[in-house]
Amino acid sequence: MTTLVRGGTVVSTSGASPADVVVDGETISAVLDPSSALAASAAQTADRIIDATGCYVLPGGVDAHVHLQLEMTPEATSADSFASGTAAAAWGGTTTIIDFVGQPAGTRVGEAVEQRHREADGQCAIDYGFHLAMGDINDQSLKAMESLIADGITSFKYFMAYPGVWYNDDGKLLRAMQRAADLGGLVMMHAENGLAIDVLRDQAAHRGQTDSVWHGRTRPARLEAEAVHRASALAEIAGAPLYIVHLSSSDALEQVAWARSRGQNVFAETCPQYLYLTLEGQLDQPGIDGLRAVCSPPLRSHDHHADLWQGLRHDDLAVVSTDHCPFCDNEKLLGQDDFRQTPNGLGSIEHRMDLLHSGVVQGELGLARWVETCSTTPARLFGLYPQKGVIAPGSDADLVVYNPTVRHTLSAATHHMNVDGSVWEGLEVTGQVQTVLSRGSLVIDNRSFVGRPGHGRYLPRGIPDLFV
Ligand code: URP
Ligand code: ZN
Ligand code: ZN
Repeated sequence: MTTLVRGGTVVSTSGASPADVVVDGETISAVLDPSSALAASAAQTADRIIDATGCYVLPGGVDAHVHLQLEMTPEATSADSFASGTAAAAWGGTTTIIDFVGQPAGTRVGEAVEQRHREADGQCAIDYGFHLAMGDINDQSLKAMESLIADGITSFKYFMAYPGVWYNDDGKLLRAMQRAADLGGLVMMHAENGLAIDVLRDQAAHRGQTDSVWHGRTRPARLEAEAVHRASALAEIAGAPLYIVHLSSSDALEQVAWARSRGQNVFAETCPQYLYLTLEGQLDQPGIDGLRAVCSPPLRSHDHHADLWQGLRHDDLAVVSTDHCPFCDNEKLLGQDDFRQTPNGLGSIEHRMDLLHSGVVQGELGLARWVETCSTTPARLFGLYPQKGVIAPGSDADLVVYNPTVRHTLSAATHHMNVDGSVWEGLEVTGQVQTVLSRGSLVIDNRSFVGRPGHGRYLPRGIPDLFV
């Protein structure tokens, strides 16, 4: 089966230009000048032609940080299954996700990996990979990193937050970083000073300050910045590259920029919520509205936004992922009398490309950087390039036909994520996915979902390509 995506403007890390894309089976076979004889001949022979006139043609989005059907506590599981979450991702122009195998304290890595594969197998509408979230750094889990890399799990998330469940002390973190440096794996860090935060949380609760806004007030940006600085120092000592996940504040970004200016391989991602939402506007709302906005690190004040956009422009922020981890209202309401009891996380898997494209329209980001931060760089950093993240002969035919002029309003009434509320309710964005191919198969066809659970394959990933 050959497909020709014709008449669009292909966007890559080097800019945008008119091009026709030829797909043979699951892969891209040619990218052609639309006025060439080859393009005319492809139009004669293609089995299927997709009209991209007036649209961008993008490499499918790569969302490198999502949590589908994550059992956070016995009472709270993130709302999207592998089936619903990957379908929603496709609706929003994302064709690859990387989720996590979780190894909380006291559990074994091997069993956790097998269990996560069973949960995802046959369910996904788009391709998927896994990181390992290691809550228990010990001889056994450090040893397992080698076989995990052989199985394509080449990145490892560690936590300076969440004492008692995911937290590891600096000595353990250093050992893990040394091991990653030896093996070529990538260290991902949840950088917040969890021990200090827990003191502030408990003090606030004892004073009766239990509303959702206290979730933010007890996780100050200074304690994110301190953790980023400490993680960078440990990574330097270990000789390990470092990737800071879900960076939320100017203070933390300053530490990333400083480490990079010293020549360290420190990379960072931010998420749409830290570019658009605020502590005052969302977290400091009464009842369920505030609880829906509880995530860690927390939403910050508006002052941080400009620095984060600038970080994206200047590459101190290399990636935009979602940290998609929404919970339905009945689970969020577990924290209605005490913010410490609400499950942390919110959902954007469907909206990331549109929210960042709106940043392009607002002049915050160039088109090329949009594609680079949402597709190409995550593919490179997480060992998926050039299979993913680029429109080039030989790459997977993960293509998004994107209409940059459609204006639409985000709402729980119309989104495809399996969650009843939305922190994005009422926000107008510019740009919308029209058609999506995953490895040459239609998943979204002119805004109809035609994909299926099980089309998506597990992606064993290679060693990261760090020098992007
Ligand atoms: O609040 C968040 N970020 N929930 C997901 C878990 C994590 O730390 O990434
Ligand atoms: Zn985290
Ligand atoms: Zn996360």
